[in-house]
Amino acid sequence: MKYRSLGNSNLEVSEIGIGGNTFGRANDLDKTKEILSAAFSLGINTVDTADIYGGNGTSEKYVGEALKENRNEWIIMTKFGAPNIPGNNPHTTLTPSATKEYIDYAIDASLKRLQVNYIDVYQVHFPHEMVPSEETMSALNELVKAGKVRHVGCSNYKVWHMVQSQHVAKQNNFAPFISSQPPYSLVDRRVEKEHLPACEQYGIGIIPYSPLASGFLTGKYQKNEPAPKGSRFETTSTAGYATRFINDRNFDILDKLNIFANNKGAKLSHVSLRWLLEQKQVSTIIAGVTSIDQLKDNVQAAKLVLSKDELEELDKITK
Ligand SMILES: NC(=O)c1ccc[n+]([C@@H]2O[C@H](COP(=O)([O-])OP(=O)(O)OC[C@H]3O[C@@H](n4cnc5c(N)ncnc54)[C@H](OP(=O)(O)O)[C@@H]3O)[C@@H](O)[C@H]2O)c1
Repeated sequence: MKYRSLGNSNLEVSEIGIGGNTFGRANDLDKTKEILSAAFSLGINTVDTADIYGGNGTSEKYVGEALKENRNEWIIMTKFGAPNIPGNNPHTTLTPSATKEYIDYAIDASLKRLQVNYIDVYQVHFPHEMVPSEETMSALNELVKAGKVRHVGCSNYKVWHMVQSQHVAKQNNFAPFISSQPPYSLVDRRVEKEHLPACEQYGIGIIPYSPLASGFLTGKYQKNEPAPKGSRFETTSTAGYATRFINDRNFDILDKLNIFANNKGAKLSHVSLRWLLEQKQVSTIIAGVTSIDQLKDNVQAAKLVLSKDELEELDKITK
């Protein structure tokens, strides 16, 4: 396993990390423990979760339970402020936001669920553009000063908002964002136009989410065929998200990517993850998994070598 700095911070994240939105859904507590233990043995030191994953904070609870013996060996990233899912948060009447009041509530709830004294990267899950950036960045800075959080990051932010936040941080000597978590994969390259260059300019590391397009980039979904049994898009709770990735445009790209992977003698998922690791500012890949085999498979992806010509070909296929 190789490690990279997360943006301008001193955090050394593993190239392959692990996403936590399967914990408390596809993976129960025992399976979460097995997966995180196997991940650690493979050199993975970075896990991403959120207060909403698994419902009622379950993903954070499972991560906390699984990592309590070796918490300091891990970089734990979590998030707050996603729109409320009914029943997600029975403990507060506050509406999820990026206000000081909400942040002060959310951090203590996450620390408790995770059974930790500090969070390595505390991310604003979704932007709240009506809340002044001064208020959000100041409240996050207070958490850093209190030792509850080491670094702060954002997710799903527009470029203007991210840049504004960095300027507010600089002017006031607040902790800046060191990371941004946008959707980014071979079938979703929207961030390349403006988001990535801004991250480079402002020392922000990219944590691409849905790096395998929720499994689409493993090749498990076939055109005009039902989703395979047990796969993410076969289960009723996630079937609604399928069209985000499973559509004609993406199947056209997939055909070409399959030819590329076959010619190279490589797995499509490995090509997809290695390609992301070749992109500027990408720090760690947080694919989620539902088995240890998938985890091991994703770790193998980092070893694939893509030549300059191959990267150009992938660029042409997916631009
Ligand atoms: N900030 C945000 O708004 C946001 C949004 C979404 C996700 N995220 C973060 O990003 C992480 C990853 O995103 P994601 O879960 O949406 O998508 P993903 O990582 O692209 O896809 C994960 C799914 O693909 C399948 N898979 C993974 N590795 C595989 C392999 N080697 N072979 C075959 N199938 C494999 C598994 O599903 P099945 O086995 O069920 O088919 C797995 O649950 C999340 O856990 C979360 O931490 C953040």
